[in-house]
Amino acid sequence: MTKHSPNLKAEKIAGGVHTGQRHDSAHKHVTGAAVYIDDIAEPAGTLHAGFGLSSATHALLKSVDLSAVRAAPGVVDVLTYADVPGENDISPSGMHDDPILAEGKVEFHGQPIFCVIAKTREQARHAASLARIEYEELPAIVDIWNLDPVKDKLVTTRLVLKRGDAEAAINDAPRRITGRMRLGGQDHFYLEGQVSLAVPGEDDEVIVHCSTQGPSETQHLVAHALGVPSHAVTVEVRRMGGGFGGKETQANQCAALAAIAAKKLKRAVKVRMDRDEDMTATGKRHDFVIDYDVGFDEEGNILGIDYMYALRSGFSADLSGPVGDRALFHCDNAYYYPHVHARSAPLYTNTVSNTAFRGFGGPQGMVGAERVIDEVAFAVGKDPLEIRKLNFYDAMGTKGHRNVTPYHQKVEDCIIQRIVAELEESADYAGRRREIAAFNANSRYIKRGMALTPVKFGISFTKTESNQAGALVHVYTDGSVHMNHGGTEMGQGLHLKVAQVVAEEFQIDIDQVKITATTTAKVPNTSPTAASSGADLNGMAAQDAARQIKNRLIDFAAEAHQIPKDQVVFLPNRVRVGNEEISFAELVRQAYMARVHLSAAGFYKTPKIHWDRSRGRGHAFYYYAYGAACSEVSVDTLTGEYVVERTDILHDTGRSLNPAIDIGQIEGGFVQGMGWLTTEELVWDDKGRLRTHAPSTYKIPLASDRPKIFNVALTDWSQAYEPTIHRSKAVGEPPLPLGLSVLHALSDAVASVAGHKICPRLDAPATPERVLMAIERLRTEGRGAA
Ligand code: MTE
Ligand code: MOS
Repeated sequence: MTKHSPNLKAEKIAGGVHTGQRHDSAHKHVTGAAVYIDDIAEPAGTLHAGFGLSSATHALLKSVDLSAVRAAPGVVDVLTYADVPGENDISPSGMHDDPILAEGKVEFHGQPIFCVIAKTREQARHAASLARIEYEELPAIVDIWNLDPVKDKLVTTRLVLKRGDAEAAINDAPRRITGRMRLGGQDHFYLEGQVSLAVPGEDDEVIVHCSTQGPSETQHLVAHALGVPSHAVTVEVRRMGGGFGGKETQANQCAALAAIAAKKLKRAVKVRMDRDEDMTATGKRHDFVIDYDVGFDEEGNILGIDYMYALRSGFSADLSGPVGDRALFHCDNAYYYPHVHARSAPLYTNTVSNTAFRGFGGPQGMVGAERVIDEVAFAVGKDPLEIRKLNFYDAMGTKGHRNVTPYHQKVEDCIIQRIVAELEESADYAGRRREIAAFNANSRYIKRGMALTPVKFGISFTKTESNQAGALVHVYTDGSVHMNHGGTEMGQGLHLKVAQVVAEEFQIDIDQVKITATTTAKVPNTSPTAASSGADLNGMAAQDAARQIKNRLIDFAAEAHQIPKDQVVFLPNRVRVGNEEISFAELVRQAYMARVHLSAAGFYKTPKIHWDRSRGRGHAFYYYAYGAACSEVSVDTLTGEYVVERTDILHDTGRSLNPAIDIGQIEGGFVQGMGWLTTEELVWDDKGRLRTHAPSTYKIPLASDRPKIFNVALTDWSQAYEPTIHRSKAVGEPPLPLGLSVLHALSDAVASVAGHKICPRLDAPATPERVLMAIERLRTEGRGAA
């Protein structure tokens, strides 16, 4: 007897693709039943870690006296770099610039120097404070504003994109504007911080339970640190309490330390950072300084453009090269540039090494593009939306030539025109523009503003080899299915989507498909779950595995019943074999008796893509995801405080695998993007100390900060231009830059204090203070101009 007896009458399976299933763990997330790393039952004798962090910004370590630390109650061991049996390095870039524990010098305030292992976490933390460290201070670079992006030190090579002759086009253009903007970074603020639990095994074996987006990379780096082959290390993760890019590489330090201590002490070891340590010692979204030089005509057509995207990389390369690259890949957002020259500058600083964060530089690229749109719009005295529409890439199916990106890829699937047109209509853009103008004319202190901003987001890892995935599917003799793949779950619903794909393939209800933890022992050499491609890649790999088994079942049934293969048809929870209908479980049982292999490994690699970084050319993205948002704000011009009155979003996820999950991703992405561009401010003092390392000083959006009216819709008419998994499109990151609509709505409200004559040049994050300063400046300049 199976517990889940299939319903033979159902005409459709429960939980197939394109249905709005709720997240498989939603009820466990809210009741506390979902198991995160810190909830795993601890093996007897588990030890805990505390960190010794640098209190210097850039210094040689003259002496590190840990005697008091070692003598403190409960302390079992204190690890320094000398305890790393293999290489003291966890750099993902292969540049050997990311020590696990500082060796001889420190390069940022908060860098881990040693790690205390004690019986309890409290003992470890207390002991860590007893170290006596002498530093020999070196000159430190904290901020990038005054650095020279051409001459100053980079952590890795810059990317240069070039198409046409930007210099000549800008020089010849009727109008020209140059400017510079500052764009802040962002802390990931995942609810579950960085954490790993390592359990030592026989010989060189170790199992690491790690909150990581990239179990394979964690495995390889842990093996490297231990000096053992990868086969000795198993990394497992059932789910993360949020990753947002912050666990793509930043999880590896806790993992390596836990594994090193566990092997050395032959005890289970848990390494968990507290919130302040996590915010201080792990990387964040890169802040940028963007220089632009644009030539345009009186209509507002952009003719030529030159960009410099400088980013604060921190002390090591980590992912700063690729993040800068993706910023350039999105410096066009949805706009065609006839002539373009763009450069990145991943600058070295004595700050924590910045890393992936939802959008991976793409949103920062778009912020530059949208600032330029604002500049042009104010210069020619038009609504920014008009300038946006004027400069869009040619729509899909039209025979224009305005469809080549700065990296020489043709945009073949552009649907931004239709999205914007539909959103203008549903949000009543024109009507509300008039209402806002009337409101502002009658309201002395409260001013309203509105903006409609587009998003075009490239889908694929730009590192070509990352665009592959594997899956493992077992069918058991009761007809239930075990599904595993290389992707990780961080709340985005990836496991559910992949399970839907498998259920669809076998035509069985989704509760017959078991979602299991990601482990390097089942599916090897996987890419981190990142670049929004989790479902695209792993969905395809799982479909491949399921199809192999399905084909074996078809072959078996056709042969056993002496019928052609096309007379074996998978119907909902049953299979028609000739004239007979049997349950899926019955077919599986018969196949097992006939010794049919009921397990398969699947594989997928994205076709078509290629990228030559040295030439700045290629087909970097398999396809693009599109969306647009229209936000309205009201601003108190006496204080700079504001609220988001209303946001309307229309977003493209192709033929959505799961519309309920996708809507959630869009809402969450938008709010996270809005937080980044409005209230979330990272402040380093001139000594390089992060002053905003707790929620008391770092303000993420609350539920009460969401738009008062919030309408989110999917483009139900869209489908992926390429044969993606069930013609769906990736959704993880593309909605984040929809938050730009709030920044630009604020800019619009600010502009109203000077009659929309002066471009507010509102930098981000547009905190109330920054909004107020912009208002003051415009009032002064407005009077000067009058
Ligand atoms: N959604 C939730 N709830 N939690 C997360 O950590 N990470 C985002 C996005 N959505 C994230 C999320 C990021 S940075 C990426 S790259 C994608 O999910 C990764 O998952 P996917 O490829 O399956 O979309
Ligand atoms: Mo997402 S920034 O690609 O992990």
